[in-house]
Amino acid sequence: MYLLAFESSCDDTSVALLRDDVLISMHTHTQLEHIQTLGVVPEVAARLHADHIFALITRVLADGGIELNTVDVFAATSEPGLVPSLLIGKTVAKTLAIAHKKTLIWVNHIEGHIFSILLERKLEELHFPMIVLSASGWHNDLFFWKSLYEIEKVGSTVDDSAGESMDKVGRSLWLPFPAGRYIDELAQKYDPAIHKNIPSFPLVLPEWNLNFSFSGLKSAALREIELRIKDHDKITETDLIEISYGYQGIITNILSKRLIEAQKKTGAKSIGLVGGVSANSALRKIMEKYSEENNIPYYTPKSMRYCGDNAAMIAIRAYWEAKKSS
Ligand code: KG4
Ligand code: ZN
Repeated sequence: MYLLAFESSCDDTSVALLRDDVLISMHTHTQLEHIQTLGVVPEVAARLHADHIFALITRVLADGGIELNTVDVFAATSEPGLVPSLLIGKTVAKTLAIAHKKTLIWVNHIEGHIFSILLERKLEELHFPMIVLSASGWHNDLFFWKSLYEIEKVGSTVDDSAGESMDKVGRSLWLPFPAGRYIDELAQKYDPAIHKNIPSFPLVLPEWNLNFSFSGLKSAALREIELRIKDHDKITETDLIEISYGYQGIITNILSKRLIEAQKKTGAKSIGLVGGVSANSALRKIMEKYSEENNIPYYTPKSMRYCGDNAAMIAIRAYWEAKKSS
C-alpha cells in the first residue's frame, strides 16, 4: 500500500510517501518569510503552501519511482491549524483522491504527532498504556494512549503552550522565529564559571489536575529582559545565555515534572514525548535519565525531522487508519 500525505496546518508544507509503514521519501518547505513578521500571517502562509506543494509532490514521487496513479491512499491534516493553510493540503488531497478514485483519509494533527512515535518502530515495541506529552508552538497536551486507537486527553495548557512561550521570550531577545531551537542552543553555552546571574522563575504547576500554565512565566521573563536593558542599555551575549538557560530550565522542569506525575497517576507503563518541543536537548536528557533510573520505557520520535510538523507523521497515522478498516 502506497500512501501520499500532506501536512500544511501552519507554516511548513510537507509531503511524504510511505509504502505501508515505511517512509520512502519526505520533502518539506519551511516558510522563512515569517521570520520578518516574527510570526505566521495565515493568508501569506496559505499562498506559500499553494506555491510549493506541487513541486514537493513531484520530488517525493520521483524519489519513490512511482506515478500518482500508483498511490492507494491520499491523506491530509484536517485539523487543528490555520484554516487557510489547512485548506491547501486538504483540497489537494481530496482532488487527487477523487480524480484517481482512491481512498482519502483525514488526520488530526495532534494524533499525527502522537503516531510519529511509530515511524521506524514496530507496534510490538511499544508498551501500552503510554502517557504522551505533545508540546509544540500551538498545543501543549498530555494524552493517555491506552491502546493503538484509544487516546484520551488528560491535561492541557490553560494559556500559552511551552513552544509559544519560548517563541515569545525569544522574540523579546531578538532571536529568529521560532525561537525554541535558538534558546536550546544558547542554553547549551552555559558555563557556571562565567554565567553567575541566572534568573530564577517560579515552578508553576496548577494543583488538582494535570494542566499547564506558561503565560505568567513568560511575563516574568519579559520583565527580566526589561530590567537588564535598563541596567546596561542592551542585551549582551551573556544575558542571552543566562536568560535562555534559566528560562529553558523552568520550562523543561515543568514539562518533565508534570509528565512524570501523570505517568504515576495514570499508571502508564511507558512515556512518550512528541511535537516540536520534543527536540529540546535538556528535556530529552531529563526524560532519558528518569526512564533509565526507573526502568520505564521512553519513546520520542526516532529522527529529529519527525518532531516538528511533518507529513510523515500524517502518513503513518493514515496507514494505521487504513489498516483498521482493511
Ligand atoms: O510541532 P511544531 O513544529 O509546530 C506546531 O505544531 O506548533 O512545533 C514548533 C515549536 C515552536 O514553538 C519551536 O520554538 C519549538 O517547537 N521548538 C523547540 C525546539 N525546536 C523547536 N522548543 C524547544 N527546544 C527546541 N530544540
Ligand atoms: Zn505540530
